[in-house]
Amino acid sequence: MSASGQTNKDLFVQAKNILKTNSRHDRYTVPSDRLYPYQWNWDSGFIALGWSKVAYERALCEIESLLEGQWKNGMVPHIVFHEYEEDYAPGPLDWQVPKELTHKSICTSGITQPPIIGSVLYRLYQGRDAQHDDKARFTELYQQIKSYHHWFMARRTKAPAHNLCLSLHPWESGMDNSPSWDSLIKTVPEENLAQFRRKDLKGDNDAERPHDADYAAYMSLVYHYRRIGYDAPDLLPQAHFRVFDLVLNSLLLRSARDMAHLSSALGGDDSAYWQAQSAALEVGIQTLWSAEHEAFLNRDAITGELLAPVTNASFLPLYAKAATPNQAAALARMYREWRAIYPYGVATTDPRADEFEMQRYWRGPIWLNTNWMIAEGFAVYGYDDIAAEIKADSLALIRKHGFYEYFTPDGAKGLGAPSFSWSAALALYWLGEEQA
Ligand code: GLC
Repeated sequence: MSASGQTNKDLFVQAKNILKTNSRHDRYTVPSDRLYPYQWNWDSGFIALGWSKVAYERALCEIESLLEGQWKNGMVPHIVFHEYEEDYAPGPLDWQVPKELTHKSICTSGITQPPIIGSVLYRLYQGRDAQHDDKARFTELYQQIKSYHHWFMARRTKAPAHNLCLSLHPWESGMDNSPSWDSLIKTVPEENLAQFRRKDLKGDNDAERPHDADYAAYMSLVYHYRRIGYDAPDLLPQAHFRVFDLVLNSLLLRSARDMAHLSSALGGDDSAYWQAQSAALEVGIQTLWSAEHEAFLNRDAITGELLAPVTNASFLPLYAKAATPNQAAALARMYREWRAIYPYGVATTDPRADEFEMQRYWRGPIWLNTNWMIAEGFAVYGYDDIAAEIKADSLALIRKHGFYEYFTPDGAKGLGAPSFSWSAALALYWLGEEQA
C-alpha cells in the first residue's frame, strides 16, 4: 500500500492502527502479524517508544510483559513465546530452554538481543505525567533492568577484554546476516539439522532473506548451546561465535548512562555502579576504532581481528556517546559519502563494499530502528543537519511505500513485512515529538 501524498496526521493514524493490530491481549506487540508471531526483546523497546505517544500506559505494559520472560540469572531473552504458534521456527520446541531458568515458567529463546530497554525506560520516565504516582512501578522495572546489566557484566565478559561484552550468536546483534559475520559463520561446525525446517521463506521473498548456509550456522549454534546449557558457566569458552559487537556494547553503554539518570530521578544511589560500568564500556568501545577504515568495527573475540566491511553499526558509538569529536567528524564524512551514492540513508553496509546487497536484509537495506539511533547519535555530537536528514529520509520512505520492515537505499522498494511494528512505532515517536 502506497502512502504517498499523506499528511503527517494520516501517517500518525495509520501507524497507531498498525500497533493496535499487532498488539496481543493489550500487553505485548508482535513485530509483524505475518512473519514474527512472538515478543522480541529490542523490538519491544522501540515499540514502547511508539506506544508512549498514543497510549502511555500501554508502553509500560510492553516492557513489563517482556520482563515476564526474564531469567532468574537476569538475562532478558531475545524472544518471549507467550503463546505457541506453529508457523514460526525456531520455536520453543527447538530452543528447549529449561523452564526453571525463568521466573514465571514462560517459554523463551536461550540468547539475548541488544539491550535498548533501559534507555527506553528512562525516556518513558521523562515523558510521564508527573501527576501520576508511579514511582514504585518504575523502581521495579529499574531493578529488573539493572539485573539484566549485571548479567551482561558477570556472564558475558571475559578477561583480558573485560570492558566489552561478548555476543554469542548473530541474532544477539539484531543484525542477523550482517557481512561482519561472513568469515565467522563459515567456521561454525554444522550440527545435524534434519529435524529443522525454515519457516521464514514464503516463496516470493528468498532474495530478501538470509541464505540457507547462514541459517544452518544460526541453528547449529542454537543446538550447540542447547547441549552445553544456555546458562552453563563454561558456555563462553566453548562458543563457536564470540564477538565484541558494536550494537550490543553501544546500546549497553547508552543504557548504563540512561539508567544512572533514572536511578537518581527515582531517588536511588547507584551512581558509582553505573559510573564504573560506563567507564569500562567506553574504554572498550575505543578499542574497536580502526584507523585504517576511520570507523568503528566489530571484533572477532576468537582471533582478535577487526571485522570489515564498515556497516551502519559503525555509527552506533555516537548513540552511546563513546566517540571523540574527531571520530564523530570522520563518521559524519562517511555518512555523507554514503548518502551521495544513494538518495536515502542509512544503508546497513557501506554501499561501496563488495558485500553490499541492495535487497538482502541486514546487508544493504535501510532499517528504521538503526536510523533512529544513528540520528540520535549525530544529534548528540551537534550534527543536527544529518539527524534531520535521516529522520526526513525515514519518513519519506514510509510515505512512499508504507510501514515496511526495511527499504532499499535507492528508494525503489519497501521490503519484508508490510505493517512492521517498529517502523510504525518510530514514526509515531518522531511525529509525536514534533507535536509536543
Ligand atoms: C529479525 C531481525 C531482528 C528482529 C526480529 C524481529 O530476526 O533481524 O533484529 O528483532 O527479526 O523483528
